[in-house]
Amino acid sequence: MTHMALEVKESLDERCNRILKNMEASLTARDRVGIQDFVLLDPYTSETAFLENLKKRFHENLIYTYIGTLLVSLPPHIYALADNVFRTMQSECNNHFILISGESGAGKTEASKKILQFYAVSCPSTKLLNNVRDRLLLSNPVLEAFGNAKTLKNNNSSRFGKYMDIQFDHQGGAVGGHILSYLLEKSRVVHQNHGERNFHIFYQLVEGGEEDLLRWLGLERNCTKYHFLVQGGCAKVSSINDKSDWKTVRKALSIIEFSESETEHLFAIIASVLHLGNVKFEANVQGYAALNDNQEMHWVSKLLGIPNQVLKEGLTHRKIEAKTEEVLSPFSVDHAVYARDALAKAIYGRTFNWLVNKINESLANKDSSRKTVIGLLDIYGFEVFNLNSFEQFCINYCNEKLQQLFIQLTLKSEQEEYETEGIEWEPVPYFNNKIICELVEEKFRGIISLLDEECLRPGEATDLTFLEKMEEEIGGHPHFMTHKLADKKTRKTLERGDFRLLHYAGEVTYCVVGFLDKNNDLLYRSGKEVMQQSKNAIIRHCFPSTEPDSKRRPETVVTQFKNSLADLAEILMAKEAWYVRCIKPNEAKQPGHFDDVLVRHQVKYLGLMEHLRVRRAGFAYRRKYEIFLQRYKALCPETWPNWKGTAAEGVRCLIKHLGFKPDEYKLGRTKIFIRHPRTLFATEDAFQVCKHKLATRIQAKYKGYKVKEDFLRQKEAATKIENCWRGMMARKEREKRAWAVKVIKKFIKGFMTRNQPACVDNSEYLTYVRLNYLTRLKENLPKTVLEKDAWLTPPPIMKEVSQLLKTIYIRCMVRKYMSGLSVQRKAQLLLKSQTSSMFKGRKENYPFSVSRIFLDTRIALEDINTRILQMIRHEHIKYSVPVVKYDRNGFRPRLRQLIFTQEAAYLAEEAKIKQRIDYSCLKGVSVSNLSDNFLILHVTCDDSKQKGDLVLQCEHLFEALTKLSVIADKQNCIKVVQGSVRFDIQPGREGFIDFKSGQESMVYRAKNGHLMVESTRTKTR
Ligand SMILES: Nc1ncnc2c1ncn2[C@@H]1O[C@H](COP(=O)(O)OP(=O)(O)O)[C@@H](O)[C@H]1O
Ligand SMILES: [Mg+2]
Repeated sequence: MTHMALEVKESLDERCNRILKNMEASLTARDRVGIQDFVLLDPYTSETAFLENLKKRFHENLIYTYIGTLLVSLPPHIYALADNVFRTMQSECNNHFILISGESGAGKTEASKKILQFYAVSCPSTKLLNNVRDRLLLSNPVLEAFGNAKTLKNNNSSRFGKYMDIQFDHQGGAVGGHILSYLLEKSRVVHQNHGERNFHIFYQLVEGGEEDLLRWLGLERNCTKYHFLVQGGCAKVSSINDKSDWKTVRKALSIIEFSESETEHLFAIIASVLHLGNVKFEANVQGYAALNDNQEMHWVSKLLGIPNQVLKEGLTHRKIEAKTEEVLSPFSVDHAVYARDALAKAIYGRTFNWLVNKINESLANKDSSRKTVIGLLDIYGFEVFNLNSFEQFCINYCNEKLQQLFIQLTLKSEQEEYETEGIEWEPVPYFNNKIICELVEEKFRGIISLLDEECLRPGEATDLTFLEKMEEEIGGHPHFMTHKLADKKTRKTLERGDFRLLHYAGEVTYCVVGFLDKNNDLLYRSGKEVMQQSKNAIIRHCFPSTEPDSKRRPETVVTQFKNSLADLAEILMAKEAWYVRCIKPNEAKQPGHFDDVLVRHQVKYLGLMEHLRVRRAGFAYRRKYEIFLQRYKALCPETWPNWKGTAAEGVRCLIKHLGFKPDEYKLGRTKIFIRHPRTLFATEDAFQVCKHKLATRIQAKYKGYKVKEDFLRQKEAATKIENCWRGMMARKEREKRAWAVKVIKKFIKGFMTRNQPACVDNSEYLTYVRLNYLTRLKENLPKTVLEKDAWLTPPPIMKEVSQLLKTIYIRCMVRKYMSGLSVQRKAQLLLKSQTSSMFKGRKENYPFSVSRIFLDTRIALEDINTRILQMIRHEHIKYSVPVVKYDRNGFRPRLRQLIFTQEAAYLAEEAKIKQRIDYSCLKGVSVSNLSDNFLILHVTCDDSKQKGDLVLQCEHLFEALTKLSVIADKQNCIKVVQGSVRFDIQPGREGFIDFKSGQESMVYRAKNGHLMVESTRTKTR
């Protein structure tokens, strides 16, 4: 058993907040109305206080109250318990079951449905899981339609026991289910007490079935037409809507994977049971039962697929085995009716089992991985009617057994546990119903044994002989009573055929009539054989031709039931138990009405007070040291994450750390016992908080690990990429170098062979040289004509080309230069070239003249005397320049004007022409090679009257001489001389002029009578 159930389901956030606020306060909030857990009830031995608390909560719509692990349910909030079971299963990975008990109509089935719904809604959902969930949920309406009926106690009373396993995977998803059904109350098919109905499905089919379907089944939409539906006299009930229930069932069937033909066969069976009920027998002449050609038989035959004749024979005769052969023995009418009913019950009962199997197939979980299971036991509740029969006997026996189980698991084992664990304990007395169980089931002496004996023994056994037998064997038993055994007073309340059992839940008087029959549940062999011929697949399945040896008597109904209950107990014992005790507030099926007497009675027989007392005196919670330590070890640093010593020591250390007070717990041999739920709540709450912290840490560690992993991966990747990149770069570099070596080699080879004729080795080199030279040349071409000598020196192979290019280029440049020249400039240059050809390299101061521009004249016409002009104008004055004339005698300098005309040169002084030299008479012109400006005009002098040669000094020597050479066409007669010049002073009289370079320029008459002209040496570039 596990820790306490919480009433409210909270989110984790809410939960943590609340814990932080105030744990104690939260506890009281849980107990708002009355006391939520009886364990906290103060006058805990008072039944009245107990009832008061129940009532208080009932009126506040709080129908659930705890006694520790037990939930008292006064019908609807069952979720807390379901939630607890689920959580415990999840955290402890073990199997559980919830035992729901209580009287018929107390709300067991509703509670079980609520629990199932809770799991359906709260479990993880995926498409697959939803599929399972839908089937789990929808199996309910189908089973209820076929297995529930209206009784006097409950309009939807379960007439079969149901144990359902819900299987969960490790994530808490519902993955499958399995249903075990127990003893269906088949007698209801053929007989209903007043105020009760047959199973719902019959009414649903007749009321809700589609027109086509009804026609096909041969049914009328009128329940009163069917004998099997009307015996209780209440086919229609206002609180039951058969029509809409029909729709639900139809839909559910399709979801639980019933095929079209299966549904057809199923309804054919239901309809054939109704038809069977209407089959009437008549006595023939011999008084045996006979069937006239009857419409009902026709339908049964059609729906079950059995030839009419075979069916007829089966219903009116039975097979008797004589020594070697089988003989057909006819039935009396009563017998035939009995056989018919037996057949109807058998058909329905077996079909019900088939249905359960079919549902199980659809719920089966195909995956075989480990599952945990929550079992839900919703069995028919304790039942007392005015007339109680075999069925009530079985049902109440079942409840007796479950009560026994409960006592064993709680009251008894609880107290025994304290003992074995060595915890101080004062035993709480309780009523153990073991004595009743034994009365019923004891071997040889128990009621069941006696009943079986009567059923099996040869001879005339009847219900009454069975009663007598009981009186004989167990007459003195304190829980057994019959008419015969009773005292006077009690006898009044008993009929002769009655026996009374004093059950744990109260007295029940059973009428023995029918006990033997119902226990035998005889279906004559002929009936079975008829069914084996059916074409209806379900019937064929339910009545297999290979049924175990039909000659051996089958186990009786009650023995089968007893065994199945023993199996069930075994199933339950292997699981952790949780309980829901349903208490019925009133017998009138009324809401809001609290019947004190009724409730008090239930509280009493359910042993709730004792349970409370044991709980209260005891400990609300206990756990094996290992489990407790495992769960809470995170709360103490010494025990986290692993405790080295024994679990008991670990727990001791843990609770010391948690500060449990000495009276709050006890340490047993193998378990820790905690007295109050609140201690555990606080521990659990602390654990929840701690769990989050741990989860965060684990998460952080994991994230760190993950990120680190990512980082390492990225780093590795980066290194890889880097390696590849570097490798690639290195390879590229190597290629480049290899290429460079090749190129350089080629270059060197080319260089070495450059002067050889073009070949492979040097062709590229030469191309390169050419290209290189041309490129360089292009960038270094002379900018002007004057730089023409600055031509780039060509490599040997380019000499010729270079020469050609140079010529072309210079020509081109010259042409360009020329085309840019003006007429004047051209004329000037012609003159200059003339000058050059005459003096270049000959006269020392020539270079200075080059840059001086030649003018048209140095003396303007208006500066020439008009008389002179008048005299020589007709000869066209071409050029005039001022000169210094040196006398022939004494060499005195005189300023004169030298004028060139077309015909002659004139030396003028003011208005006088001093000398005229016809060009034809001009014999020559001498100049020195030095830097002086002297010129000597030599004239032919035949005539002595004529003046001799002219010695002149002219500032514009080169200009004047050039003009003269052009005008007079005398370039050939201009002589550059060195040293001295001889000249004619007069014809026949000669003079000399000596030229030399000196420190300064001077002109003087030397002692030898020569004219000495000294000029400074000029540095030419
Ligand atoms: N939790 C509940 N809320 C409302 N009505 C309920 C509740 N439990 C039971 N009932 C009413 O009581 C009737 C009987 O309940 P049911 O579970 O069928 O009883 P049991 O299975 O114990 O015989 C239901 O049909 C319903 O009317
Ligand atoms: Mg029920």
